[in-house]
Amino acid sequence: MNVHCASETVAVSAERRWACIVIAIIVLLLAMMVWTGLHWAAMPPSRVETVDVRTLHLKGEFVENNLGTAVEKDGRVVVRLVGQQYSFVPQCIVVPAGVPVTFRGTSSDAIHGFVVGRTNANTMLIPGFIATFTTTFPKAGEQLMPCHEYCGTGHEAMWARFQVIPADEFFARAKTAERISCVPG
Ligand code: CUA
Repeated sequence: MNVHCASETVAVSAERRWACIVIAIIVLLLAMMVWTGLHWAAMPPSRVETVDVRTLHLKGEFVENNLGTAVEKDGRVVVRLVGQQYSFVPQCIVVPAGVPVTFRGTSSDAIHGFVVGRTNANTMLIPGFIATFTTTFPKAGEQLMPCHEYCGTGHEAMWARFQVIPADEFFARAKTAERISCVPG
């Protein structure tokens, strides 16, 4: 075998190897798409839990006095909120810093969405579905939480305040109140 032939053999086997790697990556990505599509359902984001829009304000999890931040019996911090044309209920949300916070939200009319400042807390609120995700806010401070889905003429005025307070302060307040509300100011 001369030098030319040997280098050709090396090139062919390298090409085959890389072709196999590329095909494996494509197959893996397709499998992930199919799996997440079937398992988690692509729409709406995060979960497929449904809720009846017609009775949203009357009974169940999203009645007005059940909205806001609460520490559940199992110790989880849960924020429940509703988006409606053109405000969030509650108008100000308070959470502890450095502790996982679970959001559960829905909409009573159009599709809304929200993002908390420059964090990864970001979801759509779709009528009839409960959007839920869990995230942690490492730093204390106040952020804005605007609606980021065009929901009608009042869309740009739809936003809430979002306060991250030190965890010890939060849990001290959680001992005396079932729902924790924002510090005024
Ligand atoms: Cu609600 Cu845009």
